[in-house]
Order: sequence, then structure tokens, then C-alpha cells
Amino acid sequence: MQETAYYRDLVTKLSHIGVELSAERDVDTLLVMILKESMEIANADAGSIYIIESQELDGLKTSQLAFKYTQNHTVNYPYQKFSMPIDKNSIAGACAVTGQVYNFKSMQETVEKLGFHHNRSYDDAAGYHTLNMLVLPLKNYEEDVIGVLQLINKKNHLEPLSDQRAYSGVVPFTREDESIIGALASQAAILIERTQLYEAIQDTLESTIKVLVTALDQRDPITAGHSDRVAQYSLDLGRYLQELKGACHPEYLLSKDELRELYIAGLLHDVGKIGVPEYLLMKANKLTAAEIDAIESRFKLIALAIETEKGHFVENPIPDFLESRASLEALIQKINRSGFLPDDEGQVLSGIKQSKFQFGDHVIELLRDHEFEQLTIPRGNLTNKERDLINDHVRMSHSLLNRVKWSKTLVQVPVIASQHHEKLNGKGYPYGLKDDEIGLRGRLMAIADIFDALTAKDRPYKPAMPVDRAIGILREEVSRGALDGNLVDYFVAMIEEREGKNDAL
Ligand SMILES: [Fe+2]
Ligand SMILES: [Fe+2]
Repeated sequence: MQETAYYRDLVTKLSHIGVELSAERDVDTLLVMILKESMEIANADAGSIYIIESQELDGLKTSQLAFKYTQNHTVNYPYQKFSMPIDKNSIAGACAVTGQVYNFKSMQETVEKLGFHHNRSYDDAAGYHTLNMLVLPLKNYEEDVIGVLQLINKKNHLEPLSDQRAYSGVVPFTREDESIIGALASQAAILIERTQLYEAIQDTLESTIKVLVTALDQRDPITAGHSDRVAQYSLDLGRYLQELKGACHPEYLLSKDELRELYIAGLLHDVGKIGVPEYLLMKANKLTAAEIDAIESRFKLIALAIETEKGHFVENPIPDFLESRASLEALIQKINRSGFLPDDEGQVLSGIKQSKFQFGDHVIELLRDHEFEQLTIPRGNLTNKERDLINDHVRMSHSLLNRVKWSKTLVQVPVIASQHHEKLNGKGYPYGLKDDEIGLRGRLMAIADIFDALTAKDRPYKPAMPVDRAIGILREEVSRGALDGNLVDYFVAMIEEREGKNDAL
């Protein structure tokens, strides 16, 4: 009756372990879980898990047995990462080579079965005694060994092995342990391989995306590296919030999957810039150097015509053009570079625009429509039409990313990426979303995006803004109701910690 209950419990436990293990998508966590559960089922005092790792060096593929995790209920072994050759010169190595289960009832048996003594140096250093050991291969579907599980000192009690009396409760691993842990090990091997494959697919996806966005960002030296940095700032802030846990609003906590989704969305947030013409991306001033040259050549020609009496103003003449020409050209150059047009300068431009000059039968305007439209931009260096074209990159990002068949854990990438220019007060674009309509990760990325645009060090024509000033601008955006104040506080705290400042916020 007691035995039936034991097996019933064991079956329940094994099926729970199976469910837990198959839900795990991180290889390292999986290894720790497998080690812990097998030690618990066999009531082993200690154990270690090894994985075969392959690498290619100079076109030559080599494999090693990497020691991944160890647990010991009695002593704390100093954990050292190491790898060893897959050969018969170590117990784990021999198991990996032969694919056999070794159940050493005593460590003397290693001499009979493997031809060498168990290496006691670790035991001696820690004052521990390995009395028996169960070593099992982790085999995949094809029966290839992908790792080794080593359990040490099965006990008939739950105490640590702190004295002779406790050591007298060490009993040999049974046939039943061999088959139960063996079954668990084969299930584990399949899951490890599946998880390794999953990680490899994730790595491939991530690196492909990185190559794509690096190439895209490089179309424009102004934003080179921007997508990568926005992704990293967003991820760092998400992690920072995770670390704060209790000290941060619970609604700001993101899971590991949500963080990864945020990171991928960060990498791709400006992918829609592929639809923005290159001259606009590269636009540093209102007019190009060639366009400014064209104006100056025109003015020079007019001056020459006045001097040689081969032409004259026919509309709105500019008084003393020969004398004022140099200062007009200097003013046009200044306006061209400036981000703000004062009224008096705008009036001078209007005066020039109304001027016409005649050479023989030919009448020309001093400023062409396009030149005047550009030079009279009141703020920044983009006309409304150009600004709309650039702003449309978010809509384009959204629509491009919507066409990708995202896996379940990345399905929110298009939405997150599409919200990086939205503002809590509804004044953002492309959709003019407000408050809760913008997700946490969209709000978070908006901060990262602004901060990087201000502080980027790779702008050829503009020095990077100091961090303090950029923080000031973020705070101004909060006071305008555009950015999430709590998130900006957390972001500033993170940046200041990094900058080595620990000032209170
Ligand atoms: Fe953007
Ligand atoms: Fe951006």
C-alpha cells in the first residue's frame, strides 16, 4: 500500500517535472532544473551536469565536455568553469564516449570499469568524500550523447554529510534510480537540444535584424548606430525596472519575453526610413552647398552685369547691390545653417524674392521659389512637406513589420515599434494616441529615441548634446504632458548611475 502511494507520487512528480521542463526556453535554467530534480528524485547529496559544446577553429570542428553546473548539499565547491576532452580519461568523458550508464557502488569500482582512480583532489580540497556515483549520458533522439549527468552519494536521510554518522547513511544507487533518472535524462536531452535549437534560431533572427538595421542606419551618417542604441537603451531601462522590483510601480515590470520583444522592436523601430529619400535623411541645412553656390553665382553675375551696364533691376531693386551683395550672401549663409528664422531676416528674404533682374531679353528672379521656400522655414531645416515625408517612416515601419510572420513571443513588435513617436498628450504621430492607448514599451522607447537623437556622438555637423541638457529636454517633455514622468525619472536614474553620478533625482 505504502509502495503504491510512493509510485503514485513519483509518477505525479515526474509528470510535473516534464511539464515544467518543457515550458523552459533557456538552456542554462533547464540544466539547473534537470540537475536539481534528478538529485531530489534519487536523494543524492551532490551532482554535476556537463554539456558537449562544439566549436569551429580554422575550419576544424572540435567538441569538448563543458562542466556547466554543480550542486552539493554538504559543502560549497568553488565553481570553476572548465571543459575537458571527450575521452576515457575522466568519468564524465568515458560516459560521453561509451554512452553507458555507470553505477559505481564504490569509487574503487572506477579502476575495474575504467582503469583509473576517481580524482580525489576536489574532495580533498573541500573535505568531502565521494562514496558512490551514478553517471548517466544525456542522449538525444538519434541516441547521440549531448551531455552527462553525474549524481553523487545517494542517502537514506535528508541531512548534509557533515559527520561520520551522516556518511553511514550513504547507500548505493539502485537499478530503479538508473531507470527513473535515465528516463528523466533522455527527456532532458531532447529538451536541451530543442532549447539549443530555439536559441540558435533566436540568435540567427537577431543577428539578421542587426545586419539589416546597421545597413539601413548607415544610409545616413547622422543616425548611424541609432537603432542599435535605442534598442539597447530600451532593454537596459526594462532591466533596470526589473532590478528595482519592489521600488518601482508594478505595472512597469516586464517579463523576459516582453524585454526581448522590446529589444527587437527597438532594433526595427526606424526600419520605415527605408522609404524616406536619402537627400532628406542627409539634410543638414536648408539648402545644399551646391544650391547656395548657385545663388552666389547668380548674385555675382548680376553684380558683373551692373558693373558692365549689361543689365538692370526691373522689379523691387536692391539698393547699392554692389556694396550690399557680400552681406546679403553672408546673411543667406547664416539663415541656411540656423534652426530659427527671426522676423527681420524673413523680411530681408521677402525683399530679395520680389527682386527681378533683366539681362538683355532675359528676366530672372534673385531667389527661386524652392530656395525661398527652404530659407524661410521658421524652425528647423525641413519644410512641412519634408517633415511629413520623414514622419511617415513610423507608418511605414508599422506596415512593413506587420507583414512579418512573427512568432508568438514577438507578435507585438510592429505595435511597439509604431509607437515611438506617440506622445501621452495626443500630440505625437502617426496615430495621435493618448495616455493608456500607448503601451508601456512604446512610452519607454519614446524616451530612448529622444535621448539618443540628442546625445548621439556621430553627427557630422552638430556636436553631441551634453547628457545634462538632454535630461533637461526629457523633463520639459514631461511637463508638457508628452512623456511618462515616472519612466523618465527611472531613465534619468539609470543614466546618472552610469555616468557615475549618484545625485538624488
Ligand atoms: Fe523614428
Ligand atoms: Fe528613432
